Amino acid sequence: MIDVPNGLIRELSLDFKAQFGRSPSLLVFAPGRINVIGEHIDYNDGYVCPAAIDKFMGFAIGPANGELSLITALDLNEEFQCDANDTFHPEKTHWTNYFKGVLSQFSTENIAPFQLCFKSTIPGGAGLSSSAALSCGFAYALNEWTKAGKSKKELALIGQRTEHEFAGVNCGLMDQFATVFGQKNHLLLMDCQDLSFSYVPADFEPYTFLLIDSKVKHSLADSAYNQRRREVEKAKELLKSTFTSVHSFRDVNETQLEQIKAEIGDVSHKRASFVMEEIQRVSDAMKSIEDKRFEHLGSLLNATHRGLSEMYEVSCAELDFLHDQALACTGVLGARMMGGGFGGCLLILIHQDDVQAAVTQLSKQYLAKFGIESAAYPVKIGQGIQHMNWHEQV
Ligand code: GLA
Repeated sequence: MIDVPNGLIRELSLDFKAQFGRSPSLLVFAPGRINVIGEHIDYNDGYVCPAAIDKFMGFAIGPANGELSLITALDLNEEFQCDANDTFHPEKTHWTNYFKGVLSQFSTENIAPFQLCFKSTIPGGAGLSSSAALSCGFAYALNEWTKAGKSKKELALIGQRTEHEFAGVNCGLMDQFATVFGQKNHLLLMDCQDLSFSYVPADFEPYTFLLIDSKVKHSLADSAYNQRRREVEKAKELLKSTFTSVHSFRDVNETQLEQIKAEIGDVSHKRASFVMEEIQRVSDAMKSIEDKRFEHLGSLLNATHRGLSEMYEVSCAELDFLHDQALACTGVLGARMMGGGFGGCLLILIHQDDVQAAVTQLSKQYLAKFGIESAAYPVKIGQGIQHMNWHEQV
């Protein structure tokens, strides 16, 4: 039995039937993710600590009548019809790019024409990785559909290549791994150098994680993300060519970074310092979680927020405000902006009895300051991608 709300399973099946006049053959559910700590270091030799959450991109798929395949975006009320075995090229920011990117990586398979519809319960633009759920979820569905036999790791890499080549975002692999490999009630501790990972029980009692969605997404987020990557890579390349002992950011010490400061400039220096500190913080955080020293974990989250805001410069006024106000709420041990940045969610570690009061307080203060209604999502850590065949329907 899969761990997805029955309501969503039923809704998606009925939507498919309404669209295409028959029942689907297969349903796939790809979750969004949180990341406890380890931000912007999945493409910087770091360790990251994400987890899948109980919000999903759901896909229903079945055979098409003619030669062409049809994809319906239920939330947008838009369709995309194509020959799935065609050659695809990216178009300017459009949801179909995620499908084209995935299809182009199945070009060695003979894809039988299909009808597919999809819908999401992952809030868009909130930094909860709805795009990784979209590309990896479709890759998973197509893998089942074509019986291509690709591994979960290959599906995650397909999702990442889709972002790079069709969406123009040079992301790391954290989001794709979280949606593919997530495990209920566990964090995924991922080594982004060799892509190995282990599961860590997510037991924070009596504390819990709460997300406050700032509901802003600043428009230059994607280009700024790619720019951060270039700035930090400039530092890494020089470190590697200057010091033979340096193969990755894990091998660098502060003295070495100081020695190349003049050559890389202040900006790249700040970015690299953040990366080195964040790599260390993840390792400290893992010890705090193991020893249940949650106050210490909270202080590490705060340090990550300051680093992301002041050194990596990916926060924004709205998130900084929410962060400051969150720390003044009763029961809060720590908080930080989460994900790529420039908007999206604040992740808060808070005593479970104080959640409601904090949500009320923060939404009031945020509305008064920015005139924006925030949203609050209590975090439930769920399972990675799951599927069910139609005959298993509840
Ligand atoms: C986005 C990217 C990830 C990661 C985070 C920041 O979510 O897709 O690869 O870099 O930002 O940690």
